[in-house]
This record gives sequence, structure tokens and C-alpha cells, in this order.
Amino acid sequence: MKVIDTISQFRKEIKNYEHPIALVPTMGALHEGHLALVKEARKTAKTVIVSIFVNPIQFNNAVDLEKYPRTFHADSKLLTKEHCDILFYPSVDEMYPSKSELKIDFGYQNKHMEGKFRPGHFNGVGIVVAKLFNIIQPDLAFFGQKDLQQCIVIQQLVKELSFPIDIKIIETKREQSGLAMSSRNARLSEDARAVAPVLYMSLLSMAEGLKNNNFEETKAKSQELLSLTKQIKEEYIEVVEMESGKVVSKFEKGKKYGICIAAFVGNVRLIDNIIVDNE
Ligand code: PAJ
Repeated sequence: MKVIDTISQFRKEIKNYEHPIALVPTMGALHEGHLALVKEARKTAKTVIVSIFVNPIQFNNAVDLEKYPRTFHADSKLLTKEHCDILFYPSVDEMYPSKSELKIDFGYQNKHMEGKFRPGHFNGVGIVVAKLFNIIQPDLAFFGQKDLQQCIVIQQLVKELSFPIDIKIIETKREQSGLAMSSRNARLSEDARAVAPVLYMSLLSMAEGLKNNNFEETKAKSQELLSLTKQIKEEYIEVVEMESGKVVSKFEKGKKYGICIAAFVGNVRLIDNIIVDNE
């Protein structure tokens, strides 16, 4: 595996690699969830590129950015094992030689869920992903369902800016307890880790309830379930209709929905979701 840390070197080197080229963008601290994306990319593409870049402009909280785990050596070992061809590992100065002034406003998505609770977050994600698409020019790019609304904004970005890139969404990898794998899990205290699987449980119970019950009543029950656990502070539970990407308050037959949750578990903010086909 080649490690490349400048844009100019990347542009020179990539000429020697075969298409289709797949990109897996990450912020490092890699776990099985990230590796599932790399494995899928390896199955589909001739050249697999993983980027590791902790993107400062998508953090709306300075402490979160500072505490974000950085584990380059372990990450590069894992990627070598997965037969990644190129690890793109730029510095902040390389990606942002001057302050980023451009703003991408995703409209509706900015006003709901992550867009609402993390002001500026999707602007930062949009800018860095657009930069990576322009630098790497992949044929395919892999993203995790774990960040469902991120997948929605990336699809919007690709559609509205006509990037010729096929976006692949890969299922969420979970620990045995049901807790979705996340680089942030490393920051959970022992107590917080013990209760964190309640997030997934509440998603499952909400999915069951929605099929049988009244929407508002089901949501209230899930919120009640969460509030029983002292360390958990819910930020939102929302249901998104998958086709439109819009938050809804009705569960109609024949449609696909994403049930999305964000909550602080102890002092760590976690998100999770499940997709339900209401056949
Ligand atoms: P990061 O949180 O490192 O995640 C990189 C990719 O791995 C994302 O597409 C994310 O959805 C996926 N992923 C994370 N946990 C997963 C899990 N348990 N199962 C499956 N996939 C999982 O998301 C980002 O970085 C950044 O916002 C980025 C897109 C790189 C832009 O900076």
C-alpha cells in the first residue's frame, strides 16, 4: 500500500492505476465498520483508495475535534491487510492552505436532525467530500448507512453538482450488543458503554411499534424508554421517508423509512438508525 500525503503527488501517481477506482473516505480510527466499506470496495473495484483526514471544518465542537482519536499506525496496518492500494493522508494545511470560505447549504437537510443539531456540519462534510472527489476522481465511492443523513446529503451533492460517481451505501456493522460501531465508542466510560445498546433497542422497538400503532404514541414510548436510562440524553428521534429524504410523521404502507436517533451517552454523542420496509 502506498501512502500519499500531497495532492500533487496523488495526481501524478494515480495515472499508474487501473479503473474502476473506488474511494472510501474516512477520518481514521478505523474499526470493522470502516473495513466493511473497504472490503466491498475491494470486491467491486480494480483500485481501492482510502482517505484518512480528520476534517476540522465539519466539527462544530472544538473539544470533539481535539478528542477525536488519531491512530495512524494501527489504521495503516489494517488497510494493508485489506489490500488497499493507496492511503491518501493529507495534512490540514494541504487540504486547507487558506481558511475555507465557501459554503454549501443543503437546504432542507440543514434544518433537520444532524443539520439542525450540528450547525455547519454538513457544510464541512460537503466541502471535504467534494474536494476528495475532485482530487481522487473515483468511479465509485463507499459510505456507511450508519450516517444515514450524510448519505442523503452526499447523494444530493453528487446529483446537484453532476459528479460522475456511483455512490454505494453499506449496512451498519454492530457489536454483539447491537451498539453500532463508531470511532467515538472508544470515548465511552465503562458505565456508558453498558447502557449504549439501549439506542439500538429503542430503534427496534420503534420499528415494531410503528407497524402496529399510532405514530406519535410509538415515538413517545421510545423516548420514554430512553429517558429511563439516566446516562442517556436524547437529542432527537425522527423518521425519514427514504425516497424523498424528508422527515415524516406518518408511516404508510409500501414505503421505506429510516428511523434515526441521536443522543448523548454520558458525554459522548452517538447516532444510529435502522431502515424499515413497511410492506
Ligand atoms: P467516519 O466517521 O470516519 O466514517 C467513514 C465512513 O465509515 C462513513 O461513510 C461512515 O458512515 C462509515 N461507518 C462508520 N461507522 C460504521 C459502521 N458501524 N458500519 C458501517 N459503516 C460505518 O463519516 C465520516 O468519517 C466523515 O464525515 C467523512 C465522510 C470521511 C467526511 O469527512
